[in-house]
Amino acid sequence: MNRDEILSRIAAAPDLGALESLRVETLGKSGSVTALLKSLGQMDADTRTREGPAIHGLREAVTNGIAERKAALENAELDRRLATERLDLSLPAPSSPKGSIHPVSQVLDELTEIFADLGFAVAEGPEIEDDWHNFTALNIPETHPARAMHDTFYVEGDGHHVLRTHTSPVQIRTMQTQKPPIRIIAPGRVYRSDSDATHTPMFHQIEGLVIDRGITLGHLKWTLETFLKAFFERDDIVLRMRPSYFPFTEPSAEVDVGWSMEKGRRVVGGSEGWMEVLGSGMVHPKVIANCGLDPNEWQGFAFGTGVDRLAMLKYGMDDLRAFFDGDLRWMKHYGFRFFDVPTLSGGVGA
Ligand code: DAH
Repeated sequence: MNRDEILSRIAAAPDLGALESLRVETLGKSGSVTALLKSLGQMDADTRTREGPAIHGLREAVTNGIAERKAALENAELDRRLATERLDLSLPAPSSPKGSIHPVSQVLDELTEIFADLGFAVAEGPEIEDDWHNFTALNIPETHPARAMHDTFYVEGDGHHVLRTHTSPVQIRTMQTQKPPIRIIAPGRVYRSDSDATHTPMFHQIEGLVIDRGITLGHLKWTLETFLKAFFERDDIVLRMRPSYFPFTEPSAEVDVGWSMEKGRRVVGGSEGWMEVLGSGMVHPKVIANCGLDPNEWQGFAFGTGVDRLAMLKYGMDDLRAFFDGDLRWMKHYGFRFFDVPTLSGGVGA
């Protein structure tokens, strides 16, 4: 084999095994190039000077050729492996996603996003609640008329369990288990035996609770104003706080939001009229004490509102019962797309 032949066979070696055979054939102990190198020793000085550079050059060319081919074969092998092990993460989404996000879920996500930004964590409590957490600890003793007003569903059995009538018991559970300062919202299902266009036996509330030192009504008002402006995505939200009564707050205030007529529709914003949206107040010292905290050291505010109602006001549904009918046509009309994830930066309104 002459030089060109050797080099072209190396360059065409089909795999690493064939290449190794060629290396042994040329550079191995009894290889052809090795033999040429050995022959240099038997040459006289003149011949060696003449032949030497060519033979050394051949050895170098063969060595380089083998290294190059080896690298090329190894790369090809790696490419082949990468190609077979490839995982395609870019599968196309189905062209028309089935289903949609229920407005209640969407609004709950919006509320969570808004309050998370204000430093509130989400707290939860059981839907089957005991009497003490749902009423007594909230300063609603057994003889209190508020118990009757709640249209409570009682659980059969020990007579001490109810389907919670509001999310306020989560206030109690949170104060019992967390050290202040506390800033939580508690969204969830609540139950009352009531049914008409604006009432369903199951509905959703969200509770807010802040417990810290030196908390005042001013903190409450600012928080509610900030929340409602973010939720309705309008700066012209006007609040009106009306003195009211809840057993678990003192003082208590009902919060109205101003509405105005736009294109024949009543929308939130401005102050042509008022509608009630929230109950709120400063947490009653007795409630704080019932949870084992010292009301002289800790104060706070609380508020509660209906999530379904907020959804109706924002997205314009007028019959609450339709929320829970499971009618696909209603869901198609009022539901949200999976990609409408509420973010403050994107505007929580989806
Ligand atoms: N729990 C009350 C209800 O269901 C709403 C409420 C009013 C919650 C005032 C509060 C509050 O936290 O401070 O009607």
